[in-house]
Amino acid sequence: MKWADTTDPESFRAAVTPKTRAIFVESIANPGGIITDIAAISAVAKEAGVPLIVDNTLATPYLTRPAEHGADIIVHSLTKFLGGHGNSIGGAIVDCGTFDWMASGHYPSLSAPCPSYHGITLAETFGNFAFAIACRVLGLRDLGPAISPFNAFLILTGIETLPLRMQRHCDNAFQVATWLLAHDKVAWVNYAGLVENPYNRLAKRYCPDGAGGVFTFGLKGGYDAGIALVSNVKLFSHLANIGDTRSLIIHPASTTHRQLSDEHRERAGAGADVVRLSIGLEKCRHHRDLDQAAGRRLRLCYRERLVARAPQMEERGGEDGDGAGLMGETELDGHGQEQRPDAEGRLQ
Ligand SMILES: Cc1ncc(COP(=O)(O)O)c(C=O)c1O
Repeated sequence: MKWADTTDPESFRAAVTPKTRAIFVESIANPGGIITDIAAISAVAKEAGVPLIVDNTLATPYLTRPAEHGADIIVHSLTKFLGGHGNSIGGAIVDCGTFDWMASGHYPSLSAPCPSYHGITLAETFGNFAFAIACRVLGLRDLGPAISPFNAFLILTGIETLPLRMQRHCDNAFQVATWLLAHDKVAWVNYAGLVENPYNRLAKRYCPDGAGGVFTFGLKGGYDAGIALVSNVKLFSHLANIGDTRSLIIHPASTTHRQLSDEHRERAGAGADVVRLSIGLEKCRHHRDLDQAAGRRLRLCYRERLVARAPQMEERGGEDGDGAGLMGETELDGHGQEQRPDAEGRLQ
């Protein structure tokens, strides 16, 4: 396997050799947040006579349809946004039916007679869905990665609400990223939905409805600040998954990427200061939680909070708002619910 630079389609051209059998990219890269120029890399794949495989997990078909930009095969982790609830593990392979396996001659398991299936040639018999069939009749038969029926049911139920969830993930992520950008403890924010982001132009082309629900940011306080933030959040769950309905947080340098050297961590986009967020569907409480976890404000007891909020409530004409200007004034339990105080105004 050879690595190329996702931000530079020419680097793919330079990496192609006679042994190349496929080009693999992510539509939105996890955790780097790069938006891939799928059409440009597809042109390289076509020149090289190899299929382009796109991992569309972070974008989902709601935001990006890679087949419309020249992908030949699309893969999804269903464990993330498609299932959406973090309750089932699964994957999907989409054969776009665009690659001519017979013409190439480099894929004998598809273009030559298959002795374990009475000598049929899969690409001849199944035409433009030969790869999908091969995944089942060769991959599934030989390796056995069958999804459990109950997980399939949960994932299909999740997919039914994908458009609603995905838009909310994107809208919430945009708000949190914008808010973090102005936070005095934050060094940088990498979210392609922000106009300042180097991938914003590609985001407008490939995912005009939103740049997804996952992004990274850097804490000025570095490694220790990352650990402290993750330890103190209440709305966010500390999890290595992404794409749940709930908001998730992780400090990769002290967890998922802990075993790497400093240099390798940097190269993987998991430097000491990096925090990754997967923004959930909660109603606009993320910034309050991050703010209190970063230790920026003293939290007030409930009675003081009511007094402090009274003028704003009048101005805004109600209790429920977008939370702007009220940061750090609410205590949240582990599920993001406000806690009620006891008789002395203490929170349990
Ligand atoms: C972009 C992307 N693709 C695939 C996977 C693998 O997912 P799974 O664990 O469901 O196989 C991940 C996991 O983080 C991912 O981020």
